[in-house]
Amino acid sequence: MIYFDNSATTRPYKEAVDTFVKATVDFFGNPSSLHPAGKQAERLLVQTRERAAALLRVHPKEVLFTSGGTESNNLAIKGTAYQHQSRGKHLITSEVEHASSYETFKQLEQEGFTVTYLPVSRFGIVHIEDVKKAIRPDTTLVSLIHVNNELGSINPIEVIGKILQEHPKVLFHVDHVQGVGKVPLDLKKANVDFCSLSSHKFHGLKGSGMLYTRSGTKLSPMFAGGSQEHQLRAGTENVAGATAMVKALRMTQEAAWEKTDHLYRMTEKLIEALKSVDGVYMNTPSERAPHIVNFSVPGLKPEVLVQSYGEKGIYVSTKSACSSKFAEPSRVLLACGFSHERAASGVRVSLSFENTEEEMSTFIDYTKEMIPSLLKVVNK
Ligand SMILES: Cc1ncc(COP(=O)(O)O)c(C=O)c1O
Repeated sequence: MIYFDNSATTRPYKEAVDTFVKATVDFFGNPSSLHPAGKQAERLLVQTRERAAALLRVHPKEVLFTSGGTESNNLAIKGTAYQHQSRGKHLITSEVEHASSYETFKQLEQEGFTVTYLPVSRFGIVHIEDVKKAIRPDTTLVSLIHVNNELGSINPIEVIGKILQEHPKVLFHVDHVQGVGKVPLDLKKANVDFCSLSSHKFHGLKGSGMLYTRSGTKLSPMFAGGSQEHQLRAGTENVAGATAMVKALRMTQEAAWEKTDHLYRMTEKLIEALKSVDGVYMNTPSERAPHIVNFSVPGLKPEVLVQSYGEKGIYVSTKSACSSKFAEPSRVLLACGFSHERAASGVRVSLSFENTEEEMSTFIDYTKEMIPSLLKVVNK
């Protein structure tokens, strides 16, 4: 198998799985329990939070464990909107957010909030001037994706963070789910108030995530219940999931120091090779994350391409995993100004540090053979 669908999910590191199993078996107590089993689990959770904070270069109190990227995005967006609604009901986001943010904003609109959806350039990023212009006296939140999950384009988070420093009442949420270990983000330097991470996107396990919440910020919790996670996220903590996630985060950061160039080399080779294949259009911009390449073959249904790759044991995807079962064109590609046909025929290749040059060569060779022959059949 050649697994090139790492933006959908990654294969968990063996060490992360081992950590999960050990923590599940040896630290099964409820961290809220007063007996030794509970205390032991609580200690592990405290230690895990400290480690996470050190890796993210923030304070442990600023680390909130959640069930994943979707929950982190929902909590940051709804939590801010509800908490500060007496001050204002205007929110800012973009046209190319992941569904877990985008649909949250759609829901908030139905509840009477006003949302500005910033347009994006051909390269899938927001214009700085548009961000500045969109801010109003009643704005409480700007929420943007860092690395786009379909395109690999990178929003200028640090620049936007600097602008927002002049608007201290406007909070800044960043969806960093696809950026972890791939495109660095200094949370403090970028003036970020909330930042979402998801364990299974960096070789941890599904069902664990984090939300960085800058100290001094306030959120309205989504769940009613116990006082776990600084009273912001009720529910018995997933100690094993969090511990495995932090293990995976450390390993990912170490791999990033050594292997980011390797990722860029592989995707550059693919981009170069695709230039020589008739009928292929590159959607990913040249300023991009190291691991994602998105291209279209207008006239070919992307499901046909995905299936054809699949028959060779190569796994890629159409758009984001959560919307790939719908046949409509990609909202993200349409927002970049691509035609309906091009937006409906996007294929995403997404790599991890584990992929090899040999796998990429196999992929390129097969692509060069398969696309012309499929196009010949369609154009007959
Ligand atoms: C950019 C982005 N944000 C959020 C999510 C949601 O994360 P999770 O699958 O952990 O809910 C994803 C998942 O694809 C994503 O790519």
